Amino acid sequence: MSIESKVKAVTTYRLSEMKQRGEKISMLTSYDYSMARIVDRAGIDVILVGDSAANVMAGYETTLPITLDDMIYHARSVRRAVKRALIVVDLPFGTYQGNSKEALSSAIRIMKEAETDAVKLEGGEEILESVHRILCSGIPVMGHLGLTPQSIHKYGTYNVRAREEEEADKLIKDAKLLEEAGCFGLVLEKIPAELGARVAKELKIPVIGIGAGGGVDGQVLVVHDMLGINKEFSPRFLRRYADLDTIITDAVANYVSDVKGAIFPNESEQY
Ligand code: KIV
Repeated sequence: MSIESKVKAVTTYRLSEMKQRGEKISMLTSYDYSMARIVDRAGIDVILVGDSAANVMAGYETTLPITLDDMIYHARSVRRAVKRALIVVDLPFGTYQGNSKEALSSAIRIMKEAETDAVKLEGGEEILESVHRILCSGIPVMGHLGLTPQSIHKYGTYNVRAREEEEADKLIKDAKLLEEAGCFGLVLEKIPAELGARVAKELKIPVIGIGAGGGVDGQVLVVHDMLGINKEFSPRFLRRYADLDTIITDAVANYVSDVKGAIFPNESEQY
């Protein structure tokens, strides 16, 4: 879909305008056509095709196993549904960390095969060469610092990050490097609210938080978590806006009971 034909499409430029005028940015994940269509129609600004698909769609414990082909499949499904939101796609683990040429070819595959709007990479200084190379090709890049789930085996825990001064200083330095490189935005995950607010204040680009407090420029959540589909996951930062687990369980149980009792279909539900 061309940028012009999208109804008031959200662009990276519009996100930067939103930051300048102090309008908060809303972002949610989606991984499939039906959910993305609902999320887009409800007025979300940014849809993230996150590698959290590995957890909530595929049932893996970490985000590491998801492949570039898997991400492209999810991104294409979302692309077909979305008319307004900016679509950002995660580069999965192992497709950009070691080699900037590989990073570029991974990002190009996503942009060509899924026709989405931008990519997101986890990390700072360590992946800067990959970020530069992707940006030089004209693909918008979003950074991701703080808790970076692709590095879970390095840290061994999903606890709050950057509580100590040394790690907080590195995070601020990395955030500035990503901004200087040309990233259009940054996700900060699970860090102290004070640090999140400081980074958002010191950067010109929009800073979107997940567990990074209210002082950032916008918020992102995993859609399955905020809809209460995935009730096992309940970190402090998560606000649940629905209890779809209960709604779906009741609906399925009622269906099973209707089928078993020969109550469904009734006269008007058949030909
Ligand atoms: O993959 C994902 O869903 C993410 C968000 C948690 C920001 O990266």
